[in-house]
Amino acid sequence: MNWKHVALVLAVLPFVAILVAWIGFFNVGASSGHWKITNWFLHFAMRSAVRTYALAVDVPAELPRHAIQPAAGHFARGCAICHGAPGEPRSPAVMRMLPQPPDLSFSVGEWTDAQLFRIVKHGIRFTGMPAWPTLDRDDEVWAMVAFLRELPSLDAVAYRELAYGSGRLVDDALSSRFERALDSCIRCHGRDGLGRSPVTPILAGQNEAYLLGSLGAYQQHQRASGFMTLAVTGVEPEDLPELARYFANLPAPAAPAKTAQPDLAARGEAIARKGRAADRIPACLSCHESARNPAYPRLDGLDSAYIGTQLRLFREGRRGGTRYAHLMEVVAKGLDDRDIEALAAYFASRGPPAAGETE
Ligand code: HEC
Ligand code: HEC
Ligand code: HEC
Repeated sequence: MNWKHVALVLAVLPFVAILVAWIGFFNVGASSGHWKITNWFLHFAMRSAVRTYALAVDVPAELPRHAIQPAAGHFARGCAICHGAPGEPRSPAVMRMLPQPPDLSFSVGEWTDAQLFRIVKHGIRFTGMPAWPTLDRDDEVWAMVAFLRELPSLDAVAYRELAYGSGRLVDDALSSRFERALDSCIRCHGRDGLGRSPVTPILAGQNEAYLLGSLGAYQQHQRASGFMTLAVTGVEPEDLPELARYFANLPAPAAPAKTAQPDLAARGEAIARKGRAADRIPACLSCHESARNPAYPRLDGLDSAYIGTQLRLFREGRRGGTRYAHLMEVVAKGLDDRDIEALAAYFASRGPPAAGETE
């Protein structure tokens, strides 16, 4: 055989492959599984790719354990259907998927944090494993990685409490569509609307117009959050006004008794009241004082972790929001990390205005 023959074979090979595919020779059925060698090769290729791409991932010094509650709530709706969860075995239908989604309580130990991040953010091609709903922010993906690390140590009771809280898990035909939707919100936001984690904002007493505008923004992919994108999927748009009204009418929390970092909060207060002209930062309270515009949110009492995350997202132009969100992107441009920390401490220390007080 000389090089001419080799060239001929190489030239013909693609046509042979197309012919074989056209005849329908490949068995694309999942029932018989892969050959052992195919199975080995696919997993080898998948693991190698995850390992290589994970090299480029910046791992935070510590996983955000304070954010695992919403990750658990998200897992219950978005992941358990394929992977199962403590007390919720995978369904027989899922067990016949090819490849089969593994029970993560057993398999997460095989991966590093960076590798889990890579898998959860980007998904795995040709397997059904989906990518995260938004690629615009990484903090939620890290929250999921932190949750996956906890998963092997959770029993059914602990998992249920984390993922559902006092939500009833309604599927009874007696409850209305609105009640079922509300029940799903309560898993993360709590019955009192105060939020079950520091990264879950207070909805109780928040301006109704802002809540409604935000729900619409999540539903139309105008605001980046994988947690909330999934949460509003399937909620009828006609039910959103009632959900917004429900949470807006719950009592806002009282101011915390004392601020943990009074100096930091005082620095934040100075910017909030007067802004800083040199960096083109306007006074926050000119917009965020309670009665200014009902479409603008109240910030009083929000957790400093939540405020900090939102301000950084605004600054990077990644948060999105209602049709007024561009105002905040301009405001956040001039803030440095220390300003953000100070402002977060200040607004976290504020309570709602007393009755009759106009601020
Ligand atoms: C439609 C089904 C489906 C859904 C929904 C799904 N996955 Fe997967 N996932 C898979 C399949 C299938 C694999 C196995 C891929 C393989 O073996 O090559 C997988 C693999 C994984 C792995 C790698 C585990 C291992 O040991 O191979 C992780 C981690 C993971 N999924 C996490 C998640 C998380 C977190 C969610 C929810 C945000 C989720 N998955 C949602 C189907 C799904
Ligand atoms: C899986 C947990 C989870 C579920 C379920 C959930 N939320 Fe959320 N919600 C969050 C988190 C976390 C945020 C913060 C998201 C962000 O950073 O944009 C949020 C943000 C919001 C906001 C924006 C508030 C603000 O101050 O900007 C509204 C409004 C909201 N949720 C309402 C709802 C409603 C109504 C439901 C039920 C249909 C619901 N949520 C279900 C976790 C959840
Ligand atoms: C020109 C008016 C305006 C000024 C000034 C302003 N904001 Fe805002 N802010 C808004 C609007 C409007 C939103 C709602 C954005 C959206 O989601 O559509 C917002 C949202 C926010 C949020 C997110 C709240 C949530 O629940 O998600 C934070 C945090 C915030 N602003 C902090 C600040 C800080 C700190 C300052 C001062 C440095 C400031 N804002 C100045 C108009 C303003």
